Amino acid sequence: MSVLSGKKVLLGITGGIAAYKTPLLVRALVKKGAEVKVVMTPSALDFVTPLTLATLSQNPVVSSFTAEGNSDHLQWNNHVELALWADLFLVAPATSNTVSSMAQARCNNLLLACYLSAQCPIYIAPAMDLDMYAHPANKANMEKLARFGNFIFPAQEGFLASGLEGKGRMMEPDDIVVSLEENLQERVPLNGKTVLITAGPTYEAIDPVRFIGNHSSGKMGFALAEEAAKLGAKVILIAGPTALSTQHTNIILHPVVSAADMHAAVFSHYANVDIAIASAAVADFRPILSADQKIKKQTGLAEIQLTETIDILAQMGKEKKQQFLLGFALETENELENANGKCARKNLDAIVLNSLNDTDAGFGGFQNKITYIRKDTSLVAFDLKPKTAVAKDIFTQILKAL
Ligand code: CTP
Repeated sequence: MSVLSGKKVLLGITGGIAAYKTPLLVRALVKKGAEVKVVMTPSALDFVTPLTLATLSQNPVVSSFTAEGNSDHLQWNNHVELALWADLFLVAPATSNTVSSMAQARCNNLLLACYLSAQCPIYIAPAMDLDMYAHPANKANMEKLARFGNFIFPAQEGFLASGLEGKGRMMEPDDIVVSLEENLQERVPLNGKTVLITAGPTYEAIDPVRFIGNHSSGKMGFALAEEAAKLGAKVILIAGPTALSTQHTNIILHPVVSAADMHAAVFSHYANVDIAIASAAVADFRPILSADQKIKKQTGLAEIQLTETIDILAQMGKEKKQQFLLGFALETENELENANGKCARKNLDAIVLNSLNDTDAGFGGFQNKITYIRKDTSLVAFDLKPKTAVAKDIFTQILKAL
């Protein structure tokens, strides 16, 4: 599967003759499984039609700050939304004029506004006549854009529209796609890997309407899933009852209710995953008997007999082969000792320690304060931070170990 599969690509087309090749570029990207949207500069409209690009991308094409062809009821084309939608922004062809404007933060068309708003990796494929390409002013602009972290596809040698021959041709669409794949591969270190994550609480039924559960919100597990997907992994997220939903298309959510459901879902995938993270707050006990019908008040309920649920993580540890296995420990006393003990007992590669003694951290909230402990007992303690940032820290540690 291509690293471009499922990626949202914003293609910016500027007014150079190489724009006639962009329908092929759109087609090549779509063939790789990317979703493509196109933004054009007004002068690009002279070289290639929006209809062709809209047909191939199966998305509307935009080129002005207000919705196309509707002067009575003008609507704003939201450049911020479009830019933030993109996983990557490719400007091809990029004329000297656009390269210069990008370098100077000029914003007199929608494409430039998208560039300035974009938060994703940006790729630029310049195309211009050989002397323009070689001009020190243009070179300085391209160097400046590269310094900002933009990736420049060098122009190619060959026959130019002016009739001259030299360096200035836009890289061929198929070569752009190959280079994009190579570059993205470097930026998404978990591409081709599968990550299994358990999240949220489990509910253990007393009868059809009552259960034993806990206050876990699932936020930590869902943040881990989003982070793994951003790093390129395919994510299998097995989550107990939560109000959360997933964003990234690389995440497959398997909702479960009880520890037994979670156990079954985990072991239908576990053998084939590369990384497994148990962040779920699995109920440790369940009622031995769960009534088929609602237990009536008149009948009374003197006691509920409990039995232990199956320890999913411990079994993952027993069956561990290629998997990197990470567990969580929530402790209130002898925290390091207990967490280290759990790590060894469950045959984990590392364990994340949450302390209930840290105010504002842990269950339910948006923030967490963790200590990441490796199986050799070496550790890194982190500050209190949002769970999305904690998820980043955890994957930085995992990537180091891999
Ligand atoms: N876990 C699990 N299945 C269970 C219980 C726990 O997979 N039935 C996992 C959790 O997802 C977590 C880790 O085990 O990653 C720690 O669980 P915890 O309940 O804190 O530890 P226990 O081993 O149950 O020990 P104790 O309750 O004594 O702290």
